[in-house]
Amino acid sequence: MRLLGCTLTLGLAFLRTAHAQLGTQYVDPDNGITFYGLTDPVHNVTYGYVFPPLDSGATEFIGEIVAPIDTEWSGVSPAGVMIEALLLVAWVNGDEVVSSARWATDYIQPLAMVGPILTDLPSTKVNSTHWKWVYRCENCTTWSGGGLDTTSFGAPAWAFSSIPVDDPSDPESDFQEHTDFGFYGLDFSSAHASASDYANWAAGGTGSSGTFTSTTTTTTATSTTSATSSATPTVTATAYDYIIVGAGPGGIIAADRLSEAGKNVLLLERGGPSTWETGGRYAPDWADGQPLTKFDVPGLFETLFTDSNPFWWCKDVNTFAGCLVGGGTSVNGALYWYPADSDFSTEQGWPSSWVNHAPYTAKLIDRIPSTDHPSTDGLRYLEQTENVTAMLLGYQGYRQVTINDDPDSKDHIYGYSAYSFIGGQRGGPVATYLQSANTRPNFTFKQWVYVLNVVRDGAQITGVATNDTSLGPDGVVPLTPNGRVVLAAGSFGSPRVLFRSGIGPEDMIEVVQAAGLELPDEEDWIDLPVGYNVSDNPSINLVFTHPSVDAYDNWATVWSDPREADANQYLANRSGVLAQASPRVNFWRALCGSDGNTRWMQGTVRPGAASVDTVYPYNASQMFTITAYLSTGLTSRGRIGIDVALTARALVNPWFVDEIDRETLLQGLEEIVSTVPLVNGLTMITPDNTTTMEDYVADYSVASLGSNHWVGSNAIGAVVDENTLVFGTNNLFIVDASIVPALPVGNPQGVVMSMAEQAVSRILALAGGP
Ligand SMILES: Cc1cc2nc3c(=O)[nH]c(=O)nc-3n(C[C@H](O)[C@H](O)[C@H](O)COP(=O)(O)OP(=O)(O)OC[C@H]3O[C@@H](n4cnc5c(N)ncnc54)[C@H](O)[C@@H]3O)c2cc1C
Ligand SMILES: *[C@@H]1O[C@H](CO)[C@@H](O)[C@H](O)[C@H]1NC(C)=O
Ligand SMILES: *[C@@H]1O[C@H](CO)[C@@H](O)[C@H](O)[C@H]1NC(C)=O
Ligand SMILES: *[C@@H]1O[C@H](CO)[C@@H](O)[C@H](O)[C@H]1NC(C)=O
Ligand SMILES: *[C@@H]1O[C@H](CO)[C@@H](O)[C@H](O)[C@H]1NC(C)=O
Ligand SMILES: *[C@@H]1O[C@H](CO)[C@@H](O)[C@H](O)[C@H]1NC(C)=O
Ligand SMILES: *[C@@H]1O[C@H](CO)[C@@H](O)[C@H](O)[C@H]1NC(C)=O
Ligand SMILES: *[C@@H]1O[C@H](CO)[C@@H](O)[C@H](O)[C@H]1NC(C)=O
Ligand SMILES: *[C@@H]1O[C@H](CO)[C@@H](O)[C@H](O)[C@H]1NC(C)=O
Ligand SMILES: *[C@@H]1O[C@H](CO)[C@@H](O)[C@H](O)[C@H]1NC(C)=O
Ligand SMILES: *[C@@H]1O[C@H](CO)[C@@H](O)[C@H](O)[C@H]1NC(C)=O
Repeated sequence: MRLLGCTLTLGLAFLRTAHAQLGTQYVDPDNGITFYGLTDPVHNVTYGYVFPPLDSGATEFIGEIVAPIDTEWSGVSPAGVMIEALLLVAWVNGDEVVSSARWATDYIQPLAMVGPILTDLPSTKVNSTHWKWVYRCENCTTWSGGGLDTTSFGAPAWAFSSIPVDDPSDPESDFQEHTDFGFYGLDFSSAHASASDYANWAAGGTGSSGTFTSTTTTTTATSTTSATSSATPTVTATAYDYIIVGAGPGGIIAADRLSEAGKNVLLLERGGPSTWETGGRYAPDWADGQPLTKFDVPGLFETLFTDSNPFWWCKDVNTFAGCLVGGGTSVNGALYWYPADSDFSTEQGWPSSWVNHAPYTAKLIDRIPSTDHPSTDGLRYLEQTENVTAMLLGYQGYRQVTINDDPDSKDHIYGYSAYSFIGGQRGGPVATYLQSANTRPNFTFKQWVYVLNVVRDGAQITGVATNDTSLGPDGVVPLTPNGRVVLAAGSFGSPRVLFRSGIGPEDMIEVVQAAGLELPDEEDWIDLPVGYNVSDNPSINLVFTHPSVDAYDNWATVWSDPREADANQYLANRSGVLAQASPRVNFWRALCGSDGNTRWMQGTVRPGAASVDTVYPYNASQMFTITAYLSTGLTSRGRIGIDVALTARALVNPWFVDEIDRETLLQGLEEIVSTVPLVNGLTMITPDNTTTMEDYVADYSVASLGSNHWVGSNAIGAVVDENTLVFGTNNLFIVDASIVPALPVGNPQGVVMSMAEQAVSRILALAGGP
């Protein structure tokens, strides 16, 4: 029983909001192969994969493991699971790399696997500092009972050991349990090479022909100038007053208010059902017979990041974005803060006409009230981290408040986490605004419809082009004569629709052009800073143990094997531990940067931890995490755009671009831990006492810094005017997080939804509409 202990750790939630490590594209200089993977920052082992074209139907890939020479053995699980899935391991024997495919039926020694055909490629080598295994793995993406989905986002795993295998000369040698392992996020859908590059590499060739494959994009050419094309004359299109693109919080609130005002509204969503109420049926076995799904049960939040088939993430956005009914609000942690006045201030970039957000925030609260005790019995569960945090911060002069009772108070305060859950289930806009919209005959909702671009004649938008030819000729849905389009496709999705409509910086529109997609004539391109000036909270995790804390099995069992009493209580009464997502406490502190600007820091505390890095033993049953985010006042900005495959991504990462942001968050982290010695039994295990906080922050993986709180890619004042109308157009509006000019003080959904209430009331008031 060599691999015991993995039961807990293999289910770790590695890919959550604040601390996901994401694989990226890199070119190995030894062989010129473009791989997709990562270098684990602790052991410096590089793991990479590249696949043949998606449409080739091939079941193979090329991979590599590049390890410092003292790595005794290393292995990978491309599918991110240990049991009944392809495992590959390698080590060094003399000056040769020895490797094999393995298969485990339990958390025990994996044995040789029959099926895969492994071929070492010529760049495999051992030198004085490293060993490197570059291999072709044929018959490797499907296996008995499963396989690797290379069309979507996944969480591959790596394993590392500093203990030699029993017999290095024997590829089937036994070995002891890995001494460390981890997961990272990888967008397998973009990890595909062109057929010619792949064939060249697989045959031992090097370098790349430089050609690209567009694996994730619909390349259907659509007319961008005519809404009345007669290519498919049998389809007749229905015209709408308002066409809304995207059923996230912005789009849903806009759709509800516009249909309430009597407009004929069409809401288009590229994804499908989420919660039970919307037709979703993806649920754990233990909830059989109840109207519940993964998206309904708050306690299943962490499992969104460890599922082997995460169909809800957008496959053509290279960060976490929800592509299903509700958008981010169906997959987020549901932390919900009523906006502070500072969130809508002119200092944040809002026009002065926007600062009185109170009436709109009130409308929002009327529909979605927050709760800091989501369990329906009004009790709080799993509260040990609250006690410990109260002691830790109490010594620093913090006071306890009910956070949403006084949204403007965000310095030296902590309180119970507040949520948009309702009745012990996911609430948010899907359970409220979307339901009222659904009752109206003049509201039409279509799922699984992907909007490619808006159709325009100069400044006048005449409709939207979709991938669904049943909605109109060539898939174009027209507007009524004074009709309007509202983009609500999110911080990554709305910029992409704009680029594809000839709106944005020239370099991005040229990417669309190079992909061979139709665009308006060049003189009709509208030059706007779409994608610039984006921000997202940089966030850093600290991991602790305390003897009072129940780490709740690190949330690893809630899907397949929850604590029975908790599951029964939840099923019977929507109460107990599972009626809440993982966070338990939040806190805020105003910090002063060396440039004299105030920057706020938010803390989120939860039982469990995503990854631990310590040289000391620790008790995983007692661990908890404090995530510290830098928010309002931070000065770093990045840029969002599209690549040649039209995947939306950060072209410039927005975290710690300004060194003062890093310094200031470091100052906040040092302060948080300053009173650890005063709390009996409290131990910080990551970073541990062999690493200074300064080094910890300096070495923190860039891929783990993000928080999925992107704002600003279509900032008000830069891309849209104070009525959220896109500059240079007559009737194109944007109502989503992309118009929010700077980060709010807390997690953004409250601000996004208050913004949507205000935006839609301005759109309705604006003359010239339907
Ligand atoms: C993992 C995660 C955790 C988070 N946790 C929190 C939290 O705890 N608290 C908090 O306040 N915030 C949280 N957030 C952030 C919050 O959810 C987002 O800020 C919010 O959802 C943004 O809303 P939006 O309307 O701008 O866009 P989105 O929610 O992204 O919705 C956009 C919608 O448009 C659809 N779409 C996109 N492109 C097209 C197209 N071309 N055609 C048709 N449809 C399209 C998408 O499928 C999606 O449904 C989290 C986000 C993520 C991803
Ligand atoms: C990993 O690389 C970093 C930076 O090159 C170095 O500081 C560190 O010591 C290396 N760690 C190991 C285990 O080799
Ligand atoms: C492919 O692998 C499977 C096991 O995963 C095996 O059953 C099958 O025989 C293999 N096919 C070939 C052609 O080797
Ligand atoms: C050994 O190979 C690795 C991987 O290719 C390379 O990074 C390293 O520089 C090489 N070391 C020496 C001493 O050549
Ligand atoms: C839309 O619905 C509202 C409320 O149900 C109704 O008052 C209005 O007349 C309808 N408008 C159209 C155009 O159907
Ligand atoms: C939290 O602290 C209070 C006293 O402040 C104590 O009564 C309670 O039992 C503690 N709860 C836990 C879970 O430690
Ligand atoms: C349109 O795109 C969506 C999202 O990618 C997809 O689910 C749907 O099947 C597509 N529809 C058609 C008709 O191709
Ligand atoms: C980005 O924001 C800064 C400060 O808010 C502003 O001065 C600048 O003009 C903006 N740039 C773009 C391209 O919008
Ligand atoms: C559900 O709530 C009722 C009423 O409070 C209680 O009697 C019952 O024991 C609860 N059921 C479970 C399984 O917790
Ligand atoms: C680890 O913590 C759990 C929960 O507090 C406790 O039951 C267990 O005895 C601890 N294990 C060790 C080895 O201390
Ligand atoms: C560092 O932490 C470990 C484990 O908590 C402890 O045993 C050790 O004494 C500490 N060392 C110092 C110098 O504080």
